[in-house]
Amino acid sequence: MAADPLSLIREHGRVPRHVAVIMDGNGRWASRRGLPRHAGHWEGMKAVREAVEGACAAGVEILTLFAFSTENWKRPQSEVDALMQLLCAYAESEHEELAGHGVEVRVLGEVSRLDSEARAAVALMEDATRDGAVLRLNLMISYGGREEIVRAVRRLAAQVHGRSLEPEAIDADTVEQVLFTRGLPDPDLLIRTSGEFRISNFLLWQTAYTELHIASVLWPDFTREDLFAAILDYQHRERRFGRVSTR
Ligand code: FPP
Repeated sequence: MAADPLSLIREHGRVPRHVAVIMDGNGRWASRRGLPRHAGHWEGMKAVREAVEGACAAGVEILTLFAFSTENWKRPQSEVDALMQLLCAYAESEHEELAGHGVEVRVLGEVSRLDSEARAAVALMEDATRDGAVLRLNLMISYGGREEIVRAVRRLAAQVHGRSLEPEAIDADTVEQVLFTRGLPDPDLLIRTSGEFRISNFLLWQTAYTELHIASVLWPDFTREDLFAAILDYQHRERRFGRVSTR
């Protein structure tokens, strides 16, 4: 009998500390069933549960999910509204369970663009889960990688203008300090579902040396087994960070 994936992951030992996910394919999942797009997003919430529980079981420390991009604001208003309602429903129904599992939730992105109801949902989730020490769950909402870099440049420019920073003193660590992901290690593994090979403006700075795993499954069908398969794939990669092989 084949060993179960969790035992194989543990046996290998090199579990990615930080896993990021582009949750793609909700719309296709719905249209293949003759359902409206928002039905795919709601089903996608179940897959979020799978990913969170799977990450806890595998020993991942940080899980970063791309839940709503800067570009997603340009979708039809009905779909934007459905995604915001989903955020509120997720916060309402999951905050206690997430806290109980030791998950600390942080919402990263231009949160000020959310309406008051969605901002209240963010606050509820973040306040309820503040002490979580098992998994840090970043929900990237109203987030874009280029926008994050532009915001960082503006912040550093303001410091230079205010003479609290010398241009020559700016290095990669200085930039990292003004990103949404400040203080977090870069993702070791980035998973994208639905078989698409694109970064789509996600974590552009942070993924410089991240290993990519493309899964063909549509996001609503993603299970913890798919996460384990991605981790096993990662464990067989040789990470060189631009250097030569040490094998
Ligand atoms: C991309 O699929 C997915 C999104 C734009 C939304 C992702 C949101 C969820 C999975 C819900 C979970 C949210 C929270 C707050 C936990 P797509 O609509 O682009 O799919 P398509 O490429 O098939 O059209």
